Amino acid sequence: MQDTLNTPSTVVITGASSGIGLGLAQAYLERGFNVVANARTDERLAAAAKQLGNPARFLGVAGDIGRRDTAQQLIDRAVERFGKVDVLVNNAGTARRRDLDDVPDEDWQAAWDLNVMASLRAMRALVPGMRARGWGRVVNVSSTAGKRARNSPSSGTRTAPDKSSMPPCFTPLRRGEMATGSSDVR
Ligand SMILES: NC(=O)c1ccc[n+]([C@@H]2O[C@H](COP(=O)([O-])OP(=O)(O)OC[C@H]3O[C@@H](n4cnc5c(N)ncnc54)[C@H](OP(=O)(O)O)[C@@H]3O)[C@@H](O)[C@H]2O)c1
Repeated sequence: MQDTLNTPSTVVITGASSGIGLGLAQAYLERGFNVVANARTDERLAAAAKQLGNPARFLGVAGDIGRRDTAQQLIDRAVERFGKVDVLVNNAGTARRRDLDDVPDEDWQAAWDLNVMASLRAMRALVPGMRARGWGRVVNVSSTAGKRARNSPSSGTRTAPDKSSMPPCFTPLRRGEMATGSSDVR
């Protein structure tokens, strides 16, 4: 983390109203970061803000990150409030367990938009600025679920793209475009 720098750093975390995202928001605040938190509703973000208790360094931006324009709007609000974004954590995601013949195209597409496209759109909105400033970090929260074929009465069948779909999609990006030039963007 960038806590050795003098200027306050800013992190954007998607899916920060509960679970891993909320825990990360707490950890980043404790390390002196400004935190921009996304989740679907103002109510859940207000509850998170109350729990975190640091309103001067916290901004909640409500919106379904699976929708086409939300990632750009989130980044715009973060820059408007804190000037720049140093770290992006693509955390928002869901994994529903259903049978293959119980997942219509629309649900598969919605899972893809949330678990993969939202991360791509946020990176597209942020990485050019990170490169221009010479430093940035992108953390894509993933899952081991896609590495294991598992089907049992307790776990069910996981049939739709989940967070484990991200690494194969983004590995060429990390090896290529993000790593080019002299800037330290990873
Ligand atoms: N926990 C695990 O064991 C585990 C294992 C592997 C991978 N993961 C991955 O890690 C990530 C976090 O998991 P978690 O267990 O902390 O989940 P969680 O407690 O269910 O939290 C999910 C977060 O994502 C937000 N979210 C869901 N859909 C959203 C959308 N369309 N737009 C914006 N925000 C949305 C939720 O906020 P609202 O509901 O308030 O909108 C919530 O803040 C997920 O991507 C999950 O797939 C978790």
